[in-house]
Amino acid sequence: MPETTVDGPLGLLAELTHACPLSCSYCSNPLELTKRSAELATADWHRVLDEAADLGVLQSHFSGGEPLLRRDLVELVGHASSLGMYTNLVTSAIGLSRPRAQALRDAGLDHVQVSIQADEPVLSDRLAGISSFDKKIEAARLVKELGWPLTLNVVLHRQNIDRVEAILGWVEELGADRVELANTQYYGWALANRSALLPSREQLENAEKVTRAFRERLRDRTDVIYVIPDYYSRYPKPCMGGWGDRQLVIGPEGNAWPCLSAHELPLPKANVREHPLDWIWRSSPMFTAFRGTDWMPDPCRSCERREVDLGGCRCQAFQLTGDMTRTDPVCVLSPDRHLIDEAVAAANDPATADPAEQVGPVPVGSGPVGLGMP
Ligand code: SF4
Ligand code: FES
Repeated sequence: MPETTVDGPLGLLAELTHACPLSCSYCSNPLELTKRSAELATADWHRVLDEAADLGVLQSHFSGGEPLLRRDLVELVGHASSLGMYTNLVTSAIGLSRPRAQALRDAGLDHVQVSIQADEPVLSDRLAGISSFDKKIEAARLVKELGWPLTLNVVLHRQNIDRVEAILGWVEELGADRVELANTQYYGWALANRSALLPSREQLENAEKVTRAFRERLRDRTDVIYVIPDYYSRYPKPCMGGWGDRQLVIGPEGNAWPCLSAHELPLPKANVREHPLDWIWRSSPMFTAFRGTDWMPDPCRSCERREVDLGGCRCQAFQLTGDMTRTDPVCVLSPDRHLIDEAVAAANDPATADPAEQVGPVPVGSGPVGLGMP
């Protein structure tokens, strides 16, 4: 595809910081976290948002780490909003005090997405690595009270998937407009902890049954998104809707990525401190490497599904095989599918399926003046 005909991205995921009070074992942060002193300054983010708007970005998602740890969050949301973008806060909700929430609302924040780990404090706090359950519930109530649409995001895995019915009970009680039940994607921290996180087939079937019944009962009130785990699928997902096709991620240090895990890939970095966003999106090797289908080797190159799933996930291919150009091992046509089958077999074998010790990201220290929890 000639670069001049590439459409701009629809959405920008602004990872403002890797700092976070939680330490979930499925964290999508890189294994090596950006120090707070290396984060983009407020003026950098202003410029990035301006350039994103010029590129055609319509939605800004403020994420992390925990974006509430950035003292300038309200200002950045206000700036995105003034550019006409739909603004979304993706948060653990730790630090969403009433004054902060009101300031975000006054700045034009359109939507809040709160993560929850489980349905009750003991399990939730163990999974989050910090006492947080009650604060999350309180913050979710505040989001509704202030009139925002509320999405609850739940990452499902072996240790909480049997609690789906009770978790959905909270979705109903809190009046959430949408719930995303996303089975863990096994990259980074989650791949390191995979044996403790990958559910059994029986667990998945039960969770799907419970979710179907809930969706049917509350179909006029709550959108229910259930993301199946690709390890139990025959074919991979079209990751991010296609490489460099719709979404752009910018990390705390200013590196731009087509997805959350591309920092692992051996591609030349593209940083907003050094290049305009327009060049990064249209012409940088990071974004052009796997755009479209021309890059594909066999079996994808000659496969009738190549426009459907675009060869699957480059990060998964790299993390499991060491070669980012290979077919996603999730695909049944991949010569590497045995890597997935072995993990699934272990998760379904009582002799090997006991949760192993897990590691989560170590919280990043506080940084320069101007950054930190207000
Ligand atoms: Fe998709 Fe490639 Fe598998 Fe075909 S061979 S289904 S294009 S991943
Ligand atoms: Fe990077 Fe799928 S997470 S391409």
